[in-house]
Amino acid sequence: MKAFSLFMFVLAISQKSVRSCLTKAQPSKDVKKLPVILWWQPNMFPHVSKSEKEMVEVSCPNSGVKCMATQNRTLLQQEANDLLTIMHYGTDFRAYEVPLPRKANHLWALLHEESPQNNFLLCNKDALQLFNFSSTFKRNSDFPLTTQHFPSLEYLTSRKPVSIEEKNKLRKQGLAPIVYLQSHCDVPSDRDRYIYHLMGNISVDSYGACLNNKDFPNPSLGDTSKMQSEELLDFLAQYKFHIAFENAICNDYITEKFTRPLHVGSVPIYKGSPTARDWAPDHGSVIMADDFESPESLAEYLNYLDQNDDAYLKYLSYKNIKYIENQHLAKTLSSRKWSLDGEDSDNFVGAYECYVCEEMHKMESKIKQGVKLTPRTIPLEHMDCPPPQPSIGDISDVPPNHHLHNWVSDYWQNLDQAVALREMMTEGATDPESLWTYIERRYQAGLGAMEHTEL
Ligand SMILES: *[C@@H]1O[C@H](CO)[C@@H](O)[C@H](O)[C@H]1NC(C)=O
Ligand SMILES: *[C@@H]1O[C@H](CO)[C@@H](O)[C@H](O)[C@H]1NC(C)=O
Ligand SMILES: *[C@@H]1O[C@H](CO)[C@@H](O)[C@H](O)[C@H]1NC(C)=O
Repeated sequence: MKAFSLFMFVLAISQKSVRSCLTKAQPSKDVKKLPVILWWQPNMFPHVSKSEKEMVEVSCPNSGVKCMATQNRTLLQQEANDLLTIMHYGTDFRAYEVPLPRKANHLWALLHEESPQNNFLLCNKDALQLFNFSSTFKRNSDFPLTTQHFPSLEYLTSRKPVSIEEKNKLRKQGLAPIVYLQSHCDVPSDRDRYIYHLMGNISVDSYGACLNNKDFPNPSLGDTSKMQSEELLDFLAQYKFHIAFENAICNDYITEKFTRPLHVGSVPIYKGSPTARDWAPDHGSVIMADDFESPESLAEYLNYLDQNDDAYLKYLSYKNIKYIENQHLAKTLSSRKWSLDGEDSDNFVGAYECYVCEEMHKMESKIKQGVKLTPRTIPLEHMDCPPPQPSIGDISDVPPNHHLHNWVSDYWQNLDQAVALREMMTEGATDPESLWTYIERRYQAGLGAMEHTEL
């Protein structure tokens, strides 16, 4: 599932870079003069190049600056004083594969827009402080991607919802008030234990693999390659509410689970980023599950809305106004320097590469002027995410063989790795595989995070 979506994403990105023509192969000569960005994980390289080790010239349309981008790892061995940024893709970042030794001219950039569940290693300051630039889903990262699932403001407001008369008619014909469509079940947010209890107190049509209780009227609706099809959107729009629970809980980690129901005009019942309201079109457009004491009291409220059209329709009032109440959202969307499908402006991977390129130019001009660089490392709030918690009740209520326990150990083991990584780098190790020795040393000293942590 993870590998598949990453593959699709890379495919989409590389097609975009062909179209945007921002890059071209570069003959050798002035390579030295331009700052170089070395992409460490192969999957995210945003350029089409003939050989994977080729140097590609990057021209940044907003600033006019240029850099070189490559995947040629032999650059690391070069004795050079020019700044070299190593670009790390968070999901594929592995502590036992880091570029060592890290020389004084090596900068590290982090690109991590995906779910924190993909790599809990990066939720720890010992790992994060190794980076000089960040682009994550957090609003306070250097190049924030919080709105990566918001194509535009119009995306939220422009599509007309199915009328309440029609929705009520469909209810009488047997449609549940709520739809759930999810096939990724064993996730750290532990969403299905909560949803199971919700389903016991209000009817939910569940079409995906998780808590499935219904088949699509037309099997083609379940085709996972067509999750954005108009046919599926029309189908989902018939429901009054969508269950919109993220796979992991972290401030500002917000996906299409939040934006798609808003797009089709169905009310999201949301559990995910505790700060998600900051990104809603107005204060009353999303139902936050965490505002309720239990799935039962949430169900009670949803049953009330199902029977009270005026109260329900208030949630859709953002569809009727010409301007959006949430000016923070409006401003963020209109001022961001990247888009999801833009032809003129760059996609976010290329745009972040340009951000890094511009920052490197600024640093180099300081160096040229003889100004000493103030060390710049990224603070914890650029990525910190809490350990996985039970979605309902206490950890002692979770059955012993439940997958949530594995996620909790995964979280703490990753934090042990982060500390070992920092120690390995501080001590100047040259072989990243020596990480295992550092981890073992911690465990033998009884310093493993698991042993010192109460959930
Ligand atoms: C990779 O970089 C090294 C060192 O700069 C260079 O000698 C080599 O030709 C490069 N490889 C390619 C395919 O460009
Ligand atoms: C309804 O919700 C309550 C509170 O979460 C839960 O204890 C109960 O099991 C639910 N009912 C059913 C039938 O699942
Ligand atoms: C980059 O980050 C490293 C690790 O935190 C730090 O030692 C170094 O000073 C930083 N470089 C710059 C130029 O800020």
